[in-house]
Amino acid sequence: MPVSRPEEDIIPVKGDGCWIMDTKGKWYLDMDSNYSATNLGMANHEIAVGLFNQASTLISMKEDRIQIARARFLKEIHSMMPEGLDQFYWQNSGGEAVDKALKIAKAFTGTTNVIAFKGGFHGRTHGAVAVTWNEKYRKPFGLHNLDWVHFAEFNNVENIEELMEKSGAKIIILELVQGEEAGNRPADPEFVHRLWQLAKEKGALIIDDEVQAGFGRTAVKAGDWFACMSYDVVPDLMVIGKSFGGGYPVTAVVARKEIGNAMRHGYDGSTFGGNPMAMTAALIATRQMREKNVTQNVVDRSRQLYEGFKELRKKHPVMGEIRCRGLMVAFSLGSEENVHKAQEALAKNGVKVSLSTGAFIRFLPPTIISRSEVDYFLKRLDKALEGLN
Ligand SMILES: Cc1ncc(COP(=O)(O)O)c(C=O)c1O
Repeated sequence: MPVSRPEEDIIPVKGDGCWIMDTKGKWYLDMDSNYSATNLGMANHEIAVGLFNQASTLISMKEDRIQIARARFLKEIHSMMPEGLDQFYWQNSGGEAVDKALKIAKAFTGTTNVIAFKGGFHGRTHGAVAVTWNEKYRKPFGLHNLDWVHFAEFNNVENIEELMEKSGAKIIILELVQGEEAGNRPADPEFVHRLWQLAKEKGALIIDDEVQAGFGRTAVKAGDWFACMSYDVVPDLMVIGKSFGGGYPVTAVVARKEIGNAMRHGYDGSTFGGNPMAMTAALIATRQMREKNVTQNVVDRSRQLYEGFKELRKKHPVMGEIRCRGLMVAFSLGSEENVHKAQEALAKNGVKVSLSTGAFIRFLPPTIISRSEVDYFLKRLDKALEGLN
């Protein structure tokens, strides 16, 4: 079904680290990581062996049976999680996990109104679309005039307070770095602290959607496994996914125990949620993230990109505002047309980049990208920007 525009210039057959090879044997540098899902690279031998062994032993197991793979995973992930978020509910896609986070928040608060944000994106399932800003995703499905969703201005606490007063909303969902729809726009630290304070005063829950921003992608210092850590706040619920399984689909809602415990038997369920294959992939991927010191690499490569972009801007005045929150990276090219031209020129020069909305060109390189690969990218970018104005 034609739900997305196929990239016709490349049929990928093989990956190696940050590189993808197509059927013609041409190699491309990956500056997208499959929307931030393959942060550890395009192929992973250790995960392959783990999945082979797991599939040979127990390929699947329904969610209501106790699982050894899950217990092993929980022991491993503990040190990476924000303080107090220790109850997991496993799912298979980010949108699905966003839906479940909304259900959990509704069950806990006993309310249904939700504040979401202009510029926000949360996925394609019904609930996730309902809280996603761009009307083109909501309108065809009758999700544009919902009386329980209220869109606030990002980085504007007064507007949230107003909407909370009007609607009685006690649930807030946000991306701390707005990705897909807003060109990797980070929240202002002051806004974040005031929002957390407001939620505390009003007894509201905050759902932090880290499906794209999590697992080191937005680190500003070593050890920032999640964007909330880089802002020094802890949400009530957090949604995680994408790179969680190193490319294997696994997602989750994570919550404080008393919040998760608001769910009753029969409120929800998932056949594949937290299955042994997913748990094995997540165990190996998260261990690799720590072993490879991914957050430090993100900090270093983010700085390198920022400095590189600033240098290039001197030569290419078409470049405007630069955004580098960890490796959620973007800069303005003044128009959507320029973004498309630059994306095409980059692809011809062997670099694949992320989908972008509006005038910001976005990049989500693998979090393991090396110094020399960033240098390679900057050289190709320099070429691709020639002739743009
Ligand atoms: C912030 C955010 N939330 C949720 C999702 C949905 O994830 P999935 O495509 O795995 O359903 C995305 C996908 O891009 C996302 O960026």
